[in-house]
This record gives sequence, C-alpha cells and structure tokens, in this order.
Amino acid sequence: MKDIFKAPFIIEMSETTANMYRQGWDERNGGNISCLLDENEVAEYLDLNCVIRTIPTKFDAKKLAGKIFLVTGTGKYFKNVTKDPETNLGIVRISADGTMAELLWGYKDGGKFTSEFPAHMMSHIARLEVDPNHRVVAHSHPTYTIAMNTVCPADEKDFTHKLWQSNTECVIVFPDGVGVLPCMVCGTEEIGIATAEKMKSHRIVVWTNHGIYGTGKDLDEAFGLIETVEKTAQIYMLSLGHVVNVIPDKTIKGLADLWNLTIMEGVIDA
Ligand code: 13P
Ligand code: ZN
Repeated sequence: MKDIFKAPFIIEMSETTANMYRQGWDERNGGNISCLLDENEVAEYLDLNCVIRTIPTKFDAKKLAGKIFLVTGTGKYFKNVTKDPETNLGIVRISADGTMAELLWGYKDGGKFTSEFPAHMMSHIARLEVDPNHRVVAHSHPTYTIAMNTVCPADEKDFTHKLWQSNTECVIVFPDGVGVLPCMVCGTEEIGIATAEKMKSHRIVVWTNHGIYGTGKDLDEAFGLIETVEKTAQIYMLSLGHVVNVIPDKTIKGLADLWNLTIMEGVIDA
C-alpha cells in the first residue's frame, strides 16, 4: 500500500482548505468540501474491505451507492487540515442502500462528515446527472458575497446581472449564472434538496446571508468559481453608491458570443 499522506487527493485538499482559509472565507469551522474519488486510485492507499465504522447519512443517498468521497469533518477548521489531515478529513463510501457512510479513513478523533453532508451529496447527484466529469462540491463563507446579500434582493437573475455587469470575466466564467436561495436553516435535508434543485442548472449556488457553493471537475474549478464571484462581489461593494460605469448588456452579449457561450436566460435585455 502507498502512503495515504502522500496521496494527491489528500495533498490537494489540504492545500485548498489552507488557501481558502488564507482568503478569509472560512473563519473557525466555516466551510466544507467533498470530492468524489476514483475507487482504483483509493485502492492504492487503502484496503477497501476495511470499514472503520459506519455513520448514518440520515437521507436517501442510494443514487451514490458505492461511490467514495473525501469530505471535511464537521466542526473542523480549514486552517488545521494541513497539520492533521487524518483528524480533519474522512474518506467515506456510500453503502448499497444509501443509508450509511462507511468510514474507510480519517475522522480519527471519532468525528464525522460535515453537517452540510446532505447538500453536498444531493449536489453531487444533481451535477453528475448533467456532467459526468463532475467531482467537487465546495462550500465557503466569502465576505463580500455575503455583504452583497445584505444590500441586494435574493433574486438569482438580478444577482447574476449585477455580477456580469461588474467584471467582464464573469459572463465567461459562469455563463450559466448563479443560483440564489433565500436565507434558510442550514445543515438540513431541506436546504440540501433546494440546493440540488439549483445545481441542475447552475454550478454556483449562493445561500443568502450565509455563503456560496462552487462545483466542478476538480478543486481548482470549484475554487475558481467561488474566487471569481467573490472578487466581483468585492468590486460591487467597493463601488456601491458611486457607480458611473457598468458593463452594458450588449457587451455582455458580445463576450458570450465571442466565446460561443449559452448564457442564463432572462438576465440581460440584449
Ligand atoms: P461544518 O463544520 O459542519 O462543516 O459546518 C460549517 C458550515 O459552514 C455550516 O454551513
Ligand atoms: Zn456554511
């Protein structure tokens, strides 16, 4: 068996959580990440017949039966993952009936996966249905995105438009727009279902007054989506009350045409 502490998926997860912490997006235990792993790759590091313990999923995860995920632990701090990945992360396999997560590695102190496990797993189901290469769901609390929620309506077309108008990269990076949920109780199956519904047509979902979900085929892609929204939210908040120029709809349309992108419907007039 190879040394799991040298596995690319553990190293990349450690680097990403540290990086998100350094951005100021993940105070205390804020944020959580889950990555769908390749079974053959995991088998190079772990005996897949050795289940340490089982943890109830508390929702129907049957569509993910047999799939293996690397998931941050609940209550764990992103800043601490690098120095102790085995306590702060876990590798779980969804049981055949979808009611249990079989712990294959990690959560060394007796811990368990993030409280947002339903939103993560349901989002994986939704994204895998539209993109077979999908692998990562990352949740974070970026400051300016949450600040934008306090001054903007919780309306996804309006929110997307404001971002597309504030930074020319936005329509290119997320032509599918940003899904927006109203402020809801987090950590529940209900918010998981609502998030997954948005994930059918968006790779980014904002939880009003709470944070953001970014998804993608790898950690870079999920991180990059969050980073682009957050940078643009910062531009929006810095210029609030002093706006002289926004990107006109015809330029947003021109950018989308140039890059041959299909954009979210109903956001621009052009
Ligand atoms: P966890 O510590 O359970 O991952 O929760 C953090 C969080 O961001 C809740 O939304
Ligand atoms: Zn959160």
